[in-house]
Amino acid sequence: MNAFIKGLPKAELHLHIEGSLEPELMFALARRNKVSLPFSSVEAVRSAYAFGNLQDFLDIYYQGAQVLLTEEDFHDLAVAYFTRLAADGGVHAEIFFDPQTHTDRGVPFAVVAGGLLSGMAWAEQNLSVTSKLILCFLRHLPEDAALATLKMAEPWLDRIVGVGLDSSEKGFPPSGFARVFKAARERGLKLVAHAGEEGPPDYVWEALDLLNVDRIDHGNRALEDQKLVARLAAKGMTLTVCPLSNLKLCVVDDLKVHPLKRMLDLGLKATINSDDPAYFGGYLGENWRQTAAALSLSRSEIILLAKNSFTGSFLSPSEIQTHLARIDAYAS
Ligand code: HPA
Ligand code: ZN
Repeated sequence: MNAFIKGLPKAELHLHIEGSLEPELMFALARRNKVSLPFSSVEAVRSAYAFGNLQDFLDIYYQGAQVLLTEEDFHDLAVAYFTRLAADGGVHAEIFFDPQTHTDRGVPFAVVAGGLLSGMAWAEQNLSVTSKLILCFLRHLPEDAALATLKMAEPWLDRIVGVGLDSSEKGFPPSGFARVFKAARERGLKLVAHAGEEGPPDYVWEALDLLNVDRIDHGNRALEDQKLVARLAAKGMTLTVCPLSNLKLCVVDDLKVHPLKRMLDLGLKATINSDDPAYFGGYLGENWRQTAAALSLSRSEIILLAKNSFTGSFLSPSEIQTHLARIDAYAS
């Protein structure tokens, strides 16, 4: 099954590019930029990656991002990610970035976006991997800061497909971001939000009803509410599920009890994604392999998951059809 998974065309729809910063690159950038790190070695960084919950992870993730200063850094970060994705048979990615993590420490928006877009162009030319950029607002900061970030992004909006909502979930419900999501929608942007990772099903309802999202990132806790499951299934709402992330952040105790298979059985449009692969122990392929093994996914479930990753993407209908035809040709 692993060889079949590797060759299967797949898209990644839930990836924080800052979460693909490997400790080796973190150290290399710290040296290049003369930034000091609170770790003595790559091994010391890796051994700090034991998290009890989302906030434990976020604290270390925001600290790691501080080595990213120049356009070249963001380019190198993106190139490293896309190289790993291509090795796993990934052919398309819609990647999140957190501009506020950078602009709040004086790194201009143009440096961040410029570097990432140049890494994305490199991947298209050199790896034939296509990609789109999603700007995430940090929900632990006020909505006014998100509105200011959207304004800052204005000159770049023709190269940004959508906006998202990430960072600490509990205590920061989607309802606090209705204005900025409305403004983004009026600018023609797609909308996604993290909901139901640690937060309650109500946050998923809010993301649907108050933010009008096109996709739910995670969505695990939606399964606690039957009405919500019915609504998500009826809408064909894509859930960007992240199995190894869920394991590392103690959202699930064991991959064997991960809700992904149950989601498919309930008619939900689930996808497999890596979230923050440098921190959670695996890129896209590792998430697919470990989840398929732990849940004994069938060949037809695996094909369905691959198809969901394209039908849930923000590619054009004709691009989606091309990818689906490739999957059918591969699987036949
Ligand atoms: N959840 C919320 N915010 C995040 C995550 C996540 O898994 N990764 C990076 N920012
Ligand atoms: Zn995430």
